Amino acid sequence: MAALSFRLETTDPHSAARAGTITTDHGVIQTPIFMPVGTVGSVKAVTQQQLKHEVQAQIILGNTYHLYLRPGTEVLEAAGGLHRFNGWDRPILTDSGGYQVFSLAEKRKLTEEGALFQSHIDGSRHMFTPENVMDIQRSIGADIIMAFDECPPYPSEYAYARKSMELTHRWLDRCIKRLSETPDKYGYTQNLFPIVQGSTYKDLRKASSEYIASRNAAGNAIGGLSVGEPEEMMYEFTALCCENLPADKPRYLMGVGTPWNILEGIALGVDMFDCVMPTRNGRNGMLFTTQGVINIRNKKWASDFSAIDEGLSNETSRFYTKAYLRHLFVANEILALQIASMHNLNFYLWLVTEARKHIMAGDFNSWKNEMVPHLKQRL
Ligand code: GUN
Repeated sequence: MAALSFRLETTDPHSAARAGTITTDHGVIQTPIFMPVGTVGSVKAVTQQQLKHEVQAQIILGNTYHLYLRPGTEVLEAAGGLHRFNGWDRPILTDSGGYQVFSLAEKRKLTEEGALFQSHIDGSRHMFTPENVMDIQRSIGADIIMAFDECPPYPSEYAYARKSMELTHRWLDRCIKRLSETPDKYGYTQNLFPIVQGSTYKDLRKASSEYIASRNAAGNAIGGLSVGEPEEMMYEFTALCCENLPADKPRYLMGVGTPWNILEGIALGVDMFDCVMPTRNGRNGMLFTTQGVINIRNKKWASDFSAIDEGLSNETSRFYTKAYLRHLFVANEILALQIASMHNLNFYLWLVTEARKHIMAGDFNSWKNEMVPHLKQRL
């Protein structure tokens, strides 16, 4: 089967936004795209059927860290990979585990060799290295697999940020070597995306982007952002990375973000996004809608019998009322989590689809400038 390919279709005349098509062995992804997060092989509270038919997700994420700990590579290999295991037959991307080790695991230790950590589930000890993280991602079988990296915290001292970036670069070369020495396990091609680091230092970000670009991967990712830095700083560094990454490969901004972060990211030249926000915040009653942000637990919605979001065409967002969804949250019903997660994903997928249409029509930038303050409104 074939390596991932990217076709650039339209470039916006008034921003760096682009519309494109990514082709993988599990199908086509139209960019810009948002990828729902399915950490353990499940997008929380949403079924694969709903993701496919209602949300119309084109690609979902999995996490190496979680899938390695549970169910483990033995079960995933016996199933024939994650696509077979969870029944999602469209593209999948897996994050490499480095980021999760540092945000979730207990007692972790970083060395040149890799990251030693204790599982957040049972305290058992494990080691991730660039080599075994490639092997694990081979067993999971995602279409796009991420290089093993270190994401330094914000803020980081310059000296630390530089050492960390250099380590990420050495780890990348070990990932590339290991991947070249191991065959695809399931008869389709797995594509490695390297990750730019460099914290909030311009020279480091530029050097890292150039290093990553020189590896000539099928696509490139920007990591280490949305880790607590001011929003303007995130945009500044996203722009700097995009300017130094090749235009003919997809660019993926990891872990971002709010609806307005996504629109600004698209304007800067980003093609792919993922974030737990629509599902995690949805489970807490925060809804993103075409009219602005809603806290559905608020008393003000108690007798509001309008649809969750009239601006969308998806069934869940139009069928249920705000008053009913508020009632489900207040009554602690699990259906509340399902409806809210599905609605927020409907909205995120609508947002990137609209962005794509406006890029194609040539009016993306003015549309984006109108939408950003509108979507930020608290209703
Ligand atoms: N998810 C969000 N940010 C990052 C990052 O910097 N590295 C990795 N591997 N995953 C991320």
